[in-house]
Amino acid sequence: MRTHFCGLVDEAMIGQTVTLCGWTDVARNLGGVCFIDLRDHEGIVQVTVDPSSAEVFKVAASLGYEDVLQVEGIVRAREAVNSKIRTGKVEVIATNITVLNKAEPLPFHHHENPGEDIRLKYRYLDLRSADMQRKQRTRIRLVQALRRWLDARGFQDIETPILTKATPEGARDFLVPARMHPGEFYALPQSPQLFKQILMVAGFDRYYQIARCFRDEALRADRQLEFTQLDMEFAFVRERDVQDAVEGMIRDIFKEVMDVELANPFPRMTWAEAMRRYGSDKPDLRIALELVDVAELVKSSEFAVFTGAANDPDGRVAALRIPGGASLSRKQIDEYAAHAAKYGAKGLAYIKIDEAGAVSSPIQKFFAEDAFAALLKHVGAGNGDIVFFGAGGYNKVSDFMGALRLKAGKDFGLVQDGWTPLWVTDFPMFEYDDEAQRYVALHHPFTAPAVDDIGDLRANAKTAVSRGYDMVLNGNEIGGGSIRIHRPDMQSAVFELLGIGAEEAEAKFGFLLDALRFGAPPHGGIAFGIDRIAALMAGTESIRDVIPFPKTTSAQCLMTGAPSPIPDEQLAEVHIQVRPKKD
Ligand code: AMO
Ligand code: AMP
Repeated sequence: MRTHFCGLVDEAMIGQTVTLCGWTDVARNLGGVCFIDLRDHEGIVQVTVDPSSAEVFKVAASLGYEDVLQVEGIVRAREAVNSKIRTGKVEVIATNITVLNKAEPLPFHHHENPGEDIRLKYRYLDLRSADMQRKQRTRIRLVQALRRWLDARGFQDIETPILTKATPEGARDFLVPARMHPGEFYALPQSPQLFKQILMVAGFDRYYQIARCFRDEALRADRQLEFTQLDMEFAFVRERDVQDAVEGMIRDIFKEVMDVELANPFPRMTWAEAMRRYGSDKPDLRIALELVDVAELVKSSEFAVFTGAANDPDGRVAALRIPGGASLSRKQIDEYAAHAAKYGAKGLAYIKIDEAGAVSSPIQKFFAEDAFAALLKHVGAGNGDIVFFGAGGYNKVSDFMGALRLKAGKDFGLVQDGWTPLWVTDFPMFEYDDEAQRYVALHHPFTAPAVDDIGDLRANAKTAVSRGYDMVLNGNEIGGGSIRIHRPDMQSAVFELLGIGAEEAEAKFGFLLDALRFGAPPHGGIAFGIDRIAALMAGTESIRDVIPFPKTTSAQCLMTGAPSPIPDEQLAEVHIQVRPKKD
């Protein structure tokens, strides 16, 4: 249907006759002449129609947004060069225009932003915009570059099942009824974790897969129900083997796709240090602010909240100094407290020192004069600053103070330009779930503990460190992995510590325990969030922008209307009866 792409018409083609196909980006009828911006996936070219060809002019004058055209014409040098587009030095003088499909009045034009819900309902219109085309292509180039890198180094792309048994990664499973087995269900994989481990037992050594994962969890800007991992696994490796290999890969890919040089080597930090200094297991190192522990300096105060946390071995009292923060109004300070509350803070104490040195603080009254001065000195507070204080359980205080650090960084323009990759290592093996009153795996139940001795692990479960690691970039967890348990006795012991009894372990993971019994090599790996890396590369906050057809935060596809009710007959076939919704 066409001889060339609109966006690629150039000066070398002047004088040639071309046939182009595309959409009417805009059509302007200036009376004496019609201009059509004709668009295809390569870009836009100006088509010019003058009234001397009456038939063609009639068609051109009737065009509306997004009509689909085939245009025949002659390429000519343009008088008024448009430096904003690639084809700006030429135009096509139309000799014939065929309307292939007329577009009805649009719900919105892709030059507008009518809000995300409308954009998602008519996603095909939204995806036509130059910005969305650019974002999708960034993702495409990322995946191409990754595949090239991996294929060139002998990694083997192996598919694993989508209809499978539950693979726990800490989220709820999506279930699929098994028609042929009434009352039984497949689970969609939360990740290919167990299959990739079993591929190592099967002797494939270096595996990768661009794998779709399914997790029924609360959605956010960086989380979708289905998302894509670059999933990798290696046999006969220790942490550094995996880390060094994939760090090189990420550096090469950023160079290729973004022309960005990432640090070599990436800095490394233990989980404990990250929590202590940044209140986060994925610190954004572009922000120079750090938390300061002040338990020792508040122990003698009369503020019970502070002394309680300061004297509790699992407690924390941390301070965050924001240079220039004294400019915050009472209302803005309340907003900071509300932000901290979202992360579990019961209150947010502060000390504000205005430019003249006057102090305002709801906690000054609890301190002797010299103790208060010592506290200010310890946190380095001076005129013009505000210092926020958090007290409570160690992880909770770290969380909400870490969240404040990010907010302050953004609000005060303290986020430096650039790319700050980081390895976070030495994660705790277990986390105590207060509600369930048991340990849960911080990574997943197949991650090896740092100790080899089962007795040692059992005796020190609370403080046990795992062989897990995360790759962090600009405050985003872009990848996570670990060295795995390859001994069946250790795997059983870890299940037991997680409250999974022998019988349940056999029913859920018997196939894994079997595989570990029959010659499992030491192995480990990692998985990267492709959507998150693509979003970072495309310079957007939300992974929805780099997923062509994402779900909303209320877990719906506004274009297709999924999820949707299913007729009774179809439910009966899969032996399902829907329970009435509980209020
Ligand atoms: P993990 O659960 O850390 O590890 O996932 C790996 C990476 O996948 C991305 N990610 C997500 N992206 C979008 N939406 C989500 N809901 C979502 N959840 C995770 C993150 C994360 O770093 N099997 C292990 C990997 C391993 O141990 O090798 C796993 O899935 O970028
Ligand atoms: P009160 O005397 O109870 O009004 O508390 C004094 C200040 O301490 C207030 O600004 C509270 O917001 C703050 N505060 C209360 N609980 C905490 C906490 N757990 N961590 C930090 N500050 C707190």
